Amino acid sequence: MGRKMSGRFVAGMSGEEALAACQRVNHEGIAVSLDSLGESVTTEPEAQKSADIYHQLLDAIEVRKLNANVSVKLSQVGMDFDPALAERIVGEMVQHAAAVKSFVRIDMEGSPYTEATIAMTERLAAKFPGAVGTVLQAYLFRTEADTERLLGQGIRIRLCKGAYKEGPEVAFPAKADVDANYVKLMKRMVTFSNNGKGVFCGIATHDEAIVDQMRSFVRENNIEKHAFEFQMLYGVRRDLQRKLAADGFGVRVYIPFGPEWYPYFMRRLAERPANVLFLAKNFFKN
Ligand code: FDA
Repeated sequence: MGRKMSGRFVAGMSGEEALAACQRVNHEGIAVSLDSLGESVTTEPEAQKSADIYHQLLDAIEVRKLNANVSVKLSQVGMDFDPALAERIVGEMVQHAAAVKSFVRIDMEGSPYTEATIAMTERLAAKFPGAVGTVLQAYLFRTEADTERLLGQGIRIRLCKGAYKEGPEVAFPAKADVDANYVKLMKRMVTFSNNGKGVFCGIATHDEAIVDQMRSFVRENNIEKHAFEFQMLYGVRRDLQRKLAADGFGVRVYIPFGPEWYPYFMRRLAERPANVLFLAKNFFKN
C-alpha cells in the first residue's frame, strides 16, 4: 500500500522507472529534474555509488534525448565527512553534464550547508559555465545578497521558500515575510534574466497566488515567457503544471526516485497520516 501511495510522489525504485516517468512528463511538454533519493551518506563507497547513479542518468538523458537534468544533494556525495570528495564527485558530474549539454542542480539543504554549497557552485561554474547551478531559499535573511552574488556571476538559481527548520537568527519566522521575500526575489531574478545577461532562473513553488503574481509581472513588463521556468514537484499540482505549460510557460517537474523511498515515505506518512500531501512539502527535510 505504501508503495502504491508513494507512487504519486516518488517515481519508483529504479532509475528505469524514473526515466519512464520522465518520458511521460516530457510528452506533456514539461521538462524534468531527476533526483536519486538518499542523503547523509557516511562512507566513500556510498558517495561513489550515488555518483554512479547520476552518471547513468546523464548517459540515459543523452541517449534517449530527454528534456531533463539532475538534482543532487551534497550530503549524498560525502559533504559531511569529506568536502573535497564531495567537490570531486560533483565536479565529475558537472563535467559529464556539460559534455551531454545537460545541467546539474545542487539542491540546498539546511543553513549549515548554505555558504559551502554556494561557494562550491561558484568554483564549479567557473570551470563549467552554464552546467551547474544551485538553490536559494526565500526564508533565509542572507538570500537577497546571495541572489545578487550568483546573478552577478551568471549562475542559474532555483528559488524556493525553504524546507528545513531554521531559527529566527537566520530565517524569517513568519510565513507572510517568507512569501513577501519570495515575490521580491523572483521579480528581481526574472528582471535580470530578461536584460540580456541571460541568467535563466527556476521559480519553484506550488503557491498559486505567487504563480499568478509572476504571470502578471512578466505580462506587464514584457518579459519573455521563456526567460525563466516554473518548477514543481512530481505529483503536486499537476493541474497547474499542465495549465502553465499549455499557456506557453516553461515548466520543470522534480522527479525523486530510488530504493530509499520506503523509509522516507513511511516517516512522512507516520508524522501526519491524515495528509499524504504533506509529503511533498517534506521532500527536502530528512
Ligand atoms: P507553500 O508551502 O507556501 O504552500 C502554498 C500553497 O501551495 C498551498 O496553500 C497549496 O495551495 C499549494 N501547495 C503547496 N504544497 C502542496 C502540496 N503538497 N499539494 C498541493 N498543494 C500544495 N526546498 C529546499 O529547502 N531546498 C531545495 O533544494 C528545494 N528544492 C525544491 C525544488 C522544487 C522543484 C520545489 C517545487 C520545491 C523545492 N523545495 C526545496 C521545497 C520548498 O522549499 C517548499 O518546502 C515546498 O515547495 C512548499 O512550498 P510552496 O512554495 O510550494 O508552497
